[in-house]
Amino acid sequence: MQAIVIHRYGPPDVLRYETVPDPQPRAGEIRIAIHAATVNRVLDVNVRAGKETARGPTLPLIPGVDCAGVVDAVGSGVSRWRKGMRVAAAGVMPLDLCPEDEAGYAGPMGMMGIKRPGGFAEMVAVPACAAIELPAGLDFHHAAVVMRHVPTAWNLMCNVAELKAGETALVMGAGGNLGSIGIQIAKNVIGAKVIAAAGSAERAQLGLALGADHAVDYSTQDLTAEVLKLTGGKGVDVLYDNIANPKVLPQAFRAIGFGGRLVTAGAHAGPNVTIDFAHLYHKQITIKGRPGYHPPDVPKCFAAAAAGKVKTQIERILPLSRAAEAHRLVESGESRGKIVLDPTLG
Ligand SMILES: NC(=O)c1ccc[n+]([C@@H]2O[C@H](COP(=O)([O-])OP(=O)(O)OC[C@H]3O[C@@H](n4cnc5c(N)ncnc54)[C@H](OP(=O)(O)O)[C@@H]3O)[C@@H](O)[C@H]2O)c1
Repeated sequence: MQAIVIHRYGPPDVLRYETVPDPQPRAGEIRIAIHAATVNRVLDVNVRAGKETARGPTLPLIPGVDCAGVVDAVGSGVSRWRKGMRVAAAGVMPLDLCPEDEAGYAGPMGMMGIKRPGGFAEMVAVPACAAIELPAGLDFHHAAVVMRHVPTAWNLMCNVAELKAGETALVMGAGGNLGSIGIQIAKNVIGAKVIAAAGSAERAQLGLALGADHAVDYSTQDLTAEVLKLTGGKGVDVLYDNIANPKVLPQAFRAIGFGGRLVTAGAHAGPNVTIDFAHLYHKQITIKGRPGYHPPDVPKCFAAAAAGKVKTQIERILPLSRAAEAHRLVESGESRGKIVLDPTLG
């Protein structure tokens, strides 16, 4: 099969489009013929650049931390999957949620695209318990983005922040992946009020288009003052931030109201941020960081996507062979939605 292989860390050109042996599914695994894999800032671009060696990537590496496609081979001991089923997979494998018939899984452990071969390939073998069947009506490209971002956003909003209907959430980075999805989960799934905040008028506007009640452009507006004005001086119940921008997060923090919660699963613009501890204790604020997702939420995420409650933003779909170009686009910071690689396009 054709795959992208990283033999050494470096600029995007280290992503080599090569012929490699087809993966064979081991006991407890399925093989997926891949139609889509997303390109990510930290887990793809930074891994390729050698900035994420603490995660212990194994070189040579087929990167790609998620995929969507069609089951095309089934290993021994797997009863749930048949050839031709449409699936997505991502994350740490195997999950801790393997059913009985796959509990004997003896393949490699760890995240696909980091510790085991990933989705930048025509095929990948994954533990059967790590796959989820796609609902009808959801195409592979959007399914890969749902797999990558929606469960993390869902976990943060629903389980970690415990945002309730009628409460108000301030969503930072409204034009980004987790931000744009967080707005829709808060609004369309939970029934909360949403203030979308972003670092440009265009991205703030996107927040409104996604259903937010209000939008603030923190590149030109005083975020604390605007949010307090919008909430009648009360402040927000939940601050959802996955950026840790040291210039902006302190302002957002002062807009959290009594009993508020700050939740995060990312810190690419930080990680160090100064916050007002007096505000923290006076307002009895809780700060919770929680990467990853809660596996039982994944079917709910796909159902919400299939029902149109959560729409993912795709900027461009490129052939797998153009992975280096995809990395450059993500690195430039200019893309306004997800870049997706499709191996069926070459
Ligand atoms: N743990 C998990 O499971 C998980 C899953 C997915 C993502 N993440 C992490 O969550 C974070 C957000 O992911 P994402 O995909 O939503 O990110 P993203 O879409 O690439 O970026 C989100 C926002 O960050 C701001 N931004 C981008 N580059 C910046 C820079 N250099 N300096 C300051 N601000 C910058 C931009 O917003 P404004 O300019 O409008 O402020 C952008 O819209 C990342 O750190 C990612 O690794 C974690």
